[in-house]
Amino acid sequence: MCGIVGYIGNKQALPILLQGLRRLEYRGYDSAGVALVEGNQLRRERSVGRIEELAAKLKGTESASTLGIAHTRWATHGGVTEENAHPHFDCKEVIAVAHNGIIENYKEIRSTLVPKHTLRSQTDSEILTHLIEEHYHGNLRKAVAAALAHVRGTYGLAVVHRDQPDLIIVARMGSPLVIGMGDAEYYIASDPSPMLAHTKRVTFLDDGEIAEVTRSGVHTVTLMDEDVNKCISEIEWDDATAQKQGYEHFMLKEIFDQPAVLKDAIRGRIDLEEGTAHLGGINLTDDQMRSIDRIVLIACGTASYAAMIGKYAFERLVDIPVEVDVASEFRYRDPVINERTLVFAISQSGETLDTLAAIREARRKGAIVRGIVNVVGSTIARETEGGTYIHAGPELAVASTKAFTNMVAVLLLYAVQFGRLKRVTPTTGRRILTEMLEIPKKISIALEQNDAIRQIAQQYSNYSNYLFLGRGMNYPVAMEGALKLKEISYIHSEAYPGGEMKHGPIALLSSTFPVVAIHTKNALYDKMESNIEEVRARGAKVIAIATQGDDRVHEIADEVIWVPATEAILEPLVNTIPLQLFAYHMAIQLGRDVDRPRNLAKSVTVE
Ligand code: AGP
Repeated sequence: MCGIVGYIGNKQALPILLQGLRRLEYRGYDSAGVALVEGNQLRRERSVGRIEELAAKLKGTESASTLGIAHTRWATHGGVTEENAHPHFDCKEVIAVAHNGIIENYKEIRSTLVPKHTLRSQTDSEILTHLIEEHYHGNLRKAVAAALAHVRGTYGLAVVHRDQPDLIIVARMGSPLVIGMGDAEYYIASDPSPMLAHTKRVTFLDDGEIAEVTRSGVHTVTLMDEDVNKCISEIEWDDATAQKQGYEHFMLKEIFDQPAVLKDAIRGRIDLEEGTAHLGGINLTDDQMRSIDRIVLIACGTASYAAMIGKYAFERLVDIPVEVDVASEFRYRDPVINERTLVFAISQSGETLDTLAAIREARRKGAIVRGIVNVVGSTIARETEGGTYIHAGPELAVASTKAFTNMVAVLLLYAVQFGRLKRVTPTTGRRILTEMLEIPKKISIALEQNDAIRQIAQQYSNYSNYLFLGRGMNYPVAMEGALKLKEISYIHSEAYPGGEMKHGPIALLSSTFPVVAIHTKNALYDKMESNIEEVRARGAKVIAIATQGDDRVHEIADEVIWVPATEAILEPLVNTIPLQLFAYHMAIQLGRDVDRPRNLAKSVTVE
């Protein structure tokens, strides 16, 4: 997820663009750049690092330009370098493009461009500038529309041309773009926050629309060149709220981001034809993958629960043993690994020192080491010989939510990809992947329980202890739910496999020790039903996560939170959602600092 800003009007553009980037830094901050149309010149400055690095480079720059675009990057394709920073130029350096999104077919397009064009970056975005260059014959909007006709994927786009000093072209497909209306001046941004200091009158582009923004107005058409009448909205938000897109906290925004970012995790990686997944970053041939005889998943905290889900999936689909190690234990237990062991390091930040130290130990012992990471160019990403980015976008709340579901999605794709090299049939692979494509919709359905969960939290926030129960792949989901609750509400909570409760923890239960049970329709439904009855017999209240349509659960649960049915192996992607919302609303009830809980850091870079 990146941030785009643009300005066209009668004021100096540069300070407006820099201030706008600062408002969008939450969308990505590994590099930034600005392009200004000035006289008959197109000037550009880019830098690695935060916005202030760019501002420092531009300090003292006098620019009379009143037209420009700027971009703050969250790398998805291509490392964190100045060359990969936006805006990108065409060969003649007369067209500048700032892009937010993922161009799925950029490799195919790149191969058609390279003979004639000089591509300078490793990004998917740069191909857009050369496509526009190919189609530019004086009309910039038509050139952009013609270029986008070749593109598969998502984009929010801002384009300027050196010879068009009164025009910005913007386009949208899957990545937001907003136009702020001033007096003979207009503001472009990925969301309203950069423009609220100037105007609250905005119009939101919709998918498939492209607009010409000039000092005299905005003309919007579809990519098929049909005029579109856009309504103007009045934004009620203040700056801070706008960065959270109207949500009270980043955590809630990121919970609700999950349908969209899950699509980014699976986009271009599913092959329904072959019933398999293609995660190219694994950098192993099929034969090398077949020769692997053990998989070790290393991670910490939430990432380790994603790893546990991966273990269940790999062992169900691939006939090789899989171990999960919390990184801080792995490096001190003298693990048995060799050159046929595949070690995955799973990390949102890619900077967790325990995980980093563990992969260095694994490499020392000759293992094949790969990363499943969110932050492009992070240390773990750079110290593994390949792997897969989870494309969750910047996760700013300390409590991890969207990164967790995207890690799980990537692990499930790997399990299918490996499984199809072994015993998984095309039909089974196709069935799982077809359902995977439905998961974003099913997460949206699970999110509709938000108000019901808030009401439950209002009644249940005074308890001091919670037990979370799950069986099979829902046991790591229970672990994640317990972690979410304890880390943001500070309520003591722990998770157990449903069948394990009778071996001790059941002694804890009473009317003041509620239980959250994941009790969805699957092969272990009857077993979990018995566990819940054991809980009820001790007088403990039960909050059940249940499958829509289950007409028995009300007999054994005090509260029911509904989730849609899905493939058993995909259940964690849906069943985790209500537990995230439960933890969030409990923390709100208790007045906690949800985005910055006490004692915690977003990335634990100490041992
Ligand atoms: C998750 O909500 C916590 N913030 C924490 O457990 C986190 O998952 C853990 O520190 C690992 O971080 P990483 O994914 O960045 O490596």
